Amino acid sequence: PRVAVIVVAAGSGQRLDAGAPKAFVGLDAHSILRHALRGVFAGPPAQVIVVAPADRLGDALTDAHEAAGDLRDLAVVVPGGHTRQASVAAGLKAVWPDVEIVLVHDAARALTPPAVFERVVAAVAAGRDAVIPALPVVDTLKRVDGPAVTAAVDRAALAAAQTPQGFRRDILETAYRVASAEHTDDAALVQAAGFPVFTVPGDELSFKITTPADLDRARGLVGSAVP
Ligand code: C5P
Repeated sequence: PRVAVIVVAAGSGQRLDAGAPKAFVGLDAHSILRHALRGVFAGPPAQVIVVAPADRLGDALTDAHEAAGDLRDLAVVVPGGHTRQASVAAGLKAVWPDVEIVLVHDAARALTPPAVFERVVAAVAAGRDAVIPALPVVDTLKRVDGPAVTAAVDRAALAAAQTPQGFRRDILETAYRVASAEHTDDAALVQAAGFPVFTVPGDELSFKITTPADLDRARGLVGSAVP
């Protein structure tokens, strides 16, 4: 395929405190990773690279094969690194030669609709170097210094970034080669390398499962048959 999706699932899930690496925590009978991969395989045809903890490669491959169905030959599993950025870099090394567009997706955004993958791939295919799904900010935000509020922030000029983030392959590889600091997402790393980044509409269902409250929300949504 022309597209690869790197699904990063090598985090420890410390903030979730659910007794297992986050991607392997169950939402119902299936793990967070399995749900995330279901959405990925329902999107545009792609090589799917799962980046998993080194001691969970077998579990990750099982989830990938179950989610892939007939597409199992498109699934690859590689071990991750100590930071998200190191995990993405490990996934990037496994991208097949013919791939031109690379998406990076958090397994923790388990309920991301396939339509979001379609939107991101379409925008890169149409000529954008780098594309992220984003939503307007709903909270009123403040700039703070310790306990003191130092300024109000105009939220109209802000957006909340999600994944999958999509890139021209050569640009993502270049940005990773020259990266000299840790960034919290791939768009920041690509922007630091001097490339422009654009948004497409995100989706409320693409929220990242981070805290126990997020896990409860995801479990409720799965139970009520939304995805
Ligand atoms: O910790 P957080 O939820 O922000 O991590 C976002 C995503 O990055 C998760 O899907 C997590 O599994 C992944 N990650 C990783 N390797 C790390 C840290 C995080 O693949 N070392």
